[in-house]
Amino acid sequence: MTNKITYLNDGEFCIIKKDHVEFFSEDGTKINKKVLELSTEEEKYDKGDFKHFMAKEIEEQPITLKNGIKEYIDTSNNDINIHNFPWKINEISSVTLIGCGTAYHSCLMAKYWFEELTSLDVNIDVASEFRYRKNRFKKDTLYLFVSQSGETADTYAALDLCIKNNMKTCAVVNVIESSIARDSEFVLPIHCGTEIGVASTKAFLGQILILYILALKLGSLKKDLEKKTYIEKIKDLKELPKLVEKTLSLDNKIQAVSSTFNEAKGSMFLGRGFSFPIALEGALKLKELSYIHAEGYPAGEMKHGPLALIEEGMPVVVLAPRDDYYKKTISNMQEVIARGAKVLLITNKSKDEIVSENIWETIEVESTNEDLLPFLLTIPLQKLAYYSALKKGFDIDKPRNLAKSVTVE
Ligand code: AGP
Repeated sequence: MTNKITYLNDGEFCIIKKDHVEFFSEDGTKINKKVLELSTEEEKYDKGDFKHFMAKEIEEQPITLKNGIKEYIDTSNNDINIHNFPWKINEISSVTLIGCGTAYHSCLMAKYWFEELTSLDVNIDVASEFRYRKNRFKKDTLYLFVSQSGETADTYAALDLCIKNNMKTCAVVNVIESSIARDSEFVLPIHCGTEIGVASTKAFLGQILILYILALKLGSLKKDLEKKTYIEKIKDLKELPKLVEKTLSLDNKIQAVSSTFNEAKGSMFLGRGFSFPIALEGALKLKELSYIHAEGYPAGEMKHGPLALIEEGMPVVVLAPRDDYYKKTISNMQEVIARGAKVLLITNKSKDEIVSENIWETIEVESTNEDLLPFLLTIPLQKLAYYSALKKGFDIDKPRNLAKSVTVE
């Protein structure tokens, strides 16, 4: 109906007449308000040749990554530009990342990168917990609020709490006109374009890309990262869209295994280190699209209880890229195979053979710098959830009981 928008602050009100609007402050004084025009490109967003928005958004991920790289990476000098970053690096000694759902998984993923690339203390929290916690606010903590919509009530409440305590606040959002973006001191847009599918896909990759770029930049500014390493990682990052493109073509195997997940009464997604947040994200995707129980777990935790869940024929996704955790995760995989699990192993291409038998299916994504493997491991899991829901005939873009933006508690 319109692409003109005006935001009212708390307490303000307006009277809409046939041909104009009058704005008032809380005490009734007439005020002028800025009228913003939303970018028109958002309006012509449609499914194109895709059956669902989610399918289109999965395939758009190389573009999402290209947009983010273009926005923040100076490709000629292999440097990162975060324009107008409002804080000096010596004013920040810790970061706290806050989000919900998939955005929380982005926060957890970022925790590993921040720990790897910087000497900063890193905390994360689910927004609905943070907002009621007895928080210790410290002035040298940077609070990052991750949200695709920028309207999630719990995340906004967490932001509001930090603003009231005069904390440094930065939004990592897709919708730059959103409440969280508007009220944060600084905004890092993820530029992934409109995301319609309730199950977040390209926004997840966009969020973790920006968080990875921020971790690299802060690590460099704090001199935690050698210049040579910093430049090498930026060069690897520039290749990521092409690698995601290749990984997107891993289609038929995923389609074939998806029915086994549908027929099972539940499944598990296991990973260690960088792969653990992706295991959680993969389980969430399957849950919210196919309505079957799926649990993401640290692979090393199986002996502490969840191993009791494993029974003959239960599908278990094991994320075991050839990183420092590979051998340990493979031994966790053998534990579940020995108890009858059907393991879908997702790893990356390597000349080294996989030393294990009775693996039900193996999917190999492209190889790259270990930091970046989570981006590639995510793709098969998004497709697994999509094809499972497709076979069940469920509403993929609008799964039952869920909303694209949870604007209530
Ligand atoms: C993800 O697939 C879900 N739709 C949901 O968990 C979502 O990530 C969460 O509600 C947070 O939304 P936001 O990113 O808009 O804040």
